[in-house]
This record gives sequence, structure tokens and C-alpha cells, in this order.
Amino acid sequence: MSSITKTNKNNTPIPLVKKPSLTPTPVPAVGPGGRPDAESTRTACIRTFGCQMNVHDSDRMRRMILDAGYTEVTRYEDADLVVLNTCYVRENAVDRVRGHLGELSRLKREGRVKKVALTGCIGAAEESRQLEKHYSIDLILGTHNTYELAEFIGLPGMEETHTPELPGTEGEHTAFVTIMTGCNYKCSYCVVPSVRGRMVCRPMENVVHEVRRLVGSGTRYVTLLGQTVDAWRDPEGSGNKFFDLLGRVAEEAPRVWFTTSHPSNMEDRTLRLIGERETIVGKLHLPVQSGSDRMLKAMHRGYKSDRYRRKIEVFREAVPEGTLSTDIIVGHPGETEEDHEETLRLVEDCSFDSAYVFKFSPRSGTEAAGLAKSPGAVPEGVAQRRFLEVLRAVEQNAFKRNQRKIGSTEEIYIRHAKNGNGRAVGETWSGHAVHVPTTAKPGGYVTSKIESAGPHVLYAGEPVGPPR
Ligand code: 5AD
Ligand code: SF4
Repeated sequence: MSSITKTNKNNTPIPLVKKPSLTPTPVPAVGPGGRPDAESTRTACIRTFGCQMNVHDSDRMRRMILDAGYTEVTRYEDADLVVLNTCYVRENAVDRVRGHLGELSRLKREGRVKKVALTGCIGAAEESRQLEKHYSIDLILGTHNTYELAEFIGLPGMEETHTPELPGTEGEHTAFVTIMTGCNYKCSYCVVPSVRGRMVCRPMENVVHEVRRLVGSGTRYVTLLGQTVDAWRDPEGSGNKFFDLLGRVAEEAPRVWFTTSHPSNMEDRTLRLIGERETIVGKLHLPVQSGSDRMLKAMHRGYKSDRYRRKIEVFREAVPEGTLSTDIIVGHPGETEEDHEETLRLVEDCSFDSAYVFKFSPRSGTEAAGLAKSPGAVPEGVAQRRFLEVLRAVEQNAFKRNQRKIGSTEEIYIRHAKNGNGRAVGETWSGHAVHVPTTAKPGGYVTSKIESAGPHVLYAGEPVGPPR
């Protein structure tokens, strides 16, 4: 990967492209001795064994790892943190993992790898305790608590909530292109600005060339990544904003999405562009955090709830079939019952298709952490109730919206190939996750009718015609 645009304090290049894939080889930031410069860039390697569920779990852990400021690398020897997301289904699975753990122990002794986490099905099994002792594993997680990785890597603890589907990362068909790093906001609760520093944007031409190269080598789905992608500005002074970059990328790539955005930066013309361009997936992830103006002020979010509602109106009008997801924090210090009611009202008004709901967790060094013991702190039991109320409200709306898709015929992008129950996992142009019975390969398309719907996923019938 050649597109290197940023240097760290040692003047060492940091790649702003991440292309998680099973094949070689994103080039990590390389420091003396040919390995990533650990002083300024933490690196992580995720190795996935087994089925599509594990691939999906790895995607979620990848998002946490990137959020915590790590750069993803593909080789163990370049990684500070290695996550082995394991499978237990075959007899030799543990032996295979033992082989990897042995190698990792050696790399740890040599001071290359610093931490090893074992997750997934072996992590959930009894046997993991012996492995833990024998190989001095730093963290063991089962399949139901992978979210605990968040705390381990310095992110807020995450409750297991519905996870909006993330693009798959296996094979060559999807690519993640980081267009900016860091964040210029200072949200009261958030550790990201201190971990990742201020925003650094990658030049437009550099991004466009990378996308062109990826598409030339077979990538069919490009996701533009960053903490606040819509705050992107061309650092080369062309005056181009995210709207312009998205437009250019949408001309180069056959399928495009972007995440994450900040409501204060989201321009109406960008929302309209999503509806206008055939290659842009009609899904928007726009974290709101709270429906209460008082809390939004305390959080330093920089907008009021009505401004957020207006953005959503523009999106719904521009992309009527589109999907909308958000992040919501309940129990931030000072949140009253009235504030919580305001959040529930906003959830009703916006009718999200999915949401990450978080219980506030104090992160040291953040403004809100200092308030965690103040009289305004929200007791755990209250936060838990509010958490469930918000989650339920989101799911009810999502379920109703999904039901409306039944009967429609959709072109479905295949993200994960058929699994044991005979269904592949795909995505419609409106951004809905769909299970569909097909042998089509990831990166291909099938056309199918939606037959039923749950709160999180649609179910399609046999495809009409061959995959394309
Ligand atoms: N407590 C709870 N949730 C948090 N988030 C960030 N920091 C915290 C915290 N201290 C959530 C926000 C953000 C998402 C990535 O994580 O909702 O949008
Ligand atoms: Fe954190 Fe706020 Fe920046 Fe998002 S916008 S990364 S929540 S400081």
C-alpha cells in the first residue's frame, strides 16, 4: 500500500489505508528494525478461524480496535496486540490454535507482540483455562462477551446490543479506506481525542487513486472510514469537503459507504447525494447520543435535538427506503428522567433502523469521568432500565420498518458466503442486512424477493436468475 500521507512525531509514515483481508499485505507504519513504530502507533492483528459468525464477530472487534486508535496489520510480528478469534468445531481446531499460541509466546518473549487475546468458541470452552496458563494469554473471551474487548483496549465498556451489520472483510471484495484520523471534538465522555489526537485528513487525490487501484484489483465495495468522516476537508487547500470526496469516490467504485459521521458536519447536500448516486449505499450512521438538549450541551455535542431531527428529515426525504443507525448513551452524569424521556421521544421521531446503545462508562481523563461520583451520577440500576427502554424502543421501530420491506424485490450484494444453514448474508442497496439462500460468492449480486423480516435482518427467497 503506497498511499502514505501522514507522519508521526519520528517522521515515520503512517498508512491511512486499511484493507483487512485474508491476503497480503497492508504495510504498517514501519519503525526502526522494520516493525511498526510502537511509540506512536499501536498495532493490532486479528486472526479469524472458522465460520461466518466468527468473521462477523471479528468485524465488530475490528471496529473497537480501530476506534481505540490501533492500526491494523496482518502479520503477528508487526502487532502489539493479537486477537485470535477461534473455532472449536473441528477436532484439530485446538491443536491448530496451539501452534499459533506457541509462535505468539515466542514473539512475546522477543518483545515484539505485547498482548494476546483468545476469543470465540475456544475462549468459551473449559480448555481455554489450560491454554491461558500454558501460554500466558492476557485475555480470554467467549462468544457472548466479545464486547469486553472494548475495556481491555481502553474503550468504554459496551453492553451487548444489536450490532448494525458491518461490511464483511474476508476476501478481496470489500475494502476499508481511511480518509481521516483523530477528532477535533471534545465530547465530555469520550477518550478518542486523547488517544487519537486531532483530525488529520488525507488528500483527495490520494484517496481517489487508492480507490481506483483497489477497484482495479477487484474490490467491489469501498467503505470510507474515520471518526468523523463528514468533517473531512482537503488538506491541500482545494476547498473540497466531504461532499466532493464522496462524489468522486462514488464515480470510481461500484459500491460505496462511509462511517462514522458527526451531525454538526453532515451537510444536507451530502444526504441528498446518497439518494442521487446509484453507487452509494442508502444507509447512514449518524450518532445522536441523546435526545435531550440539556444532555447534548453537557456532552459538548454542538447541536440541539431539533437540528438532528431536521437532518434526519432530509435523509428520509432524499433516501426514502434507506436505513438509519445511531449511537445513544444512557446514564451520562446529570441525566434525569426527563432527559431520558426526551431520548425516547427522539427515538420515536427518527424511527432508527438500528442503534448501538451504551450505558455511560467513566473513562479516565475525560470530563465526564470526574462527574461519575457527583450527586448527578446515575445509579447502575437506573442506567440499566433506561438502557433496556431505549433498546426496546429502537427494536420496535426497526421491526416495523423491516416489515414494510416484505414483498419487495431487491438486488442483494453478497457479503458472506452461504453458511451451515444454507443462507448467505447480504445487503440491499437500502443498507438492509438480508439472509438469502444462494451459493453466490462474496462480492456478487443476486436478486430476490423479501419474504419475512425480524428486527435486525430481512429474509429473502430463492434468487431470481443467476448471480451477477
Ligand atoms: N460511555 C459510554 N459510551 C461511550 N461512547 C464513547 N464513549 C463512551 C463512554 N464513556 C460511545 C458513543 C460513541 C460510540 C463509539 O461509543 O456513543 O458514539
Ligand atoms: Fe469522541 Fe465526540 Fe470525537 Fe466522536 S465526535 S470521536 S464521540 S470526541
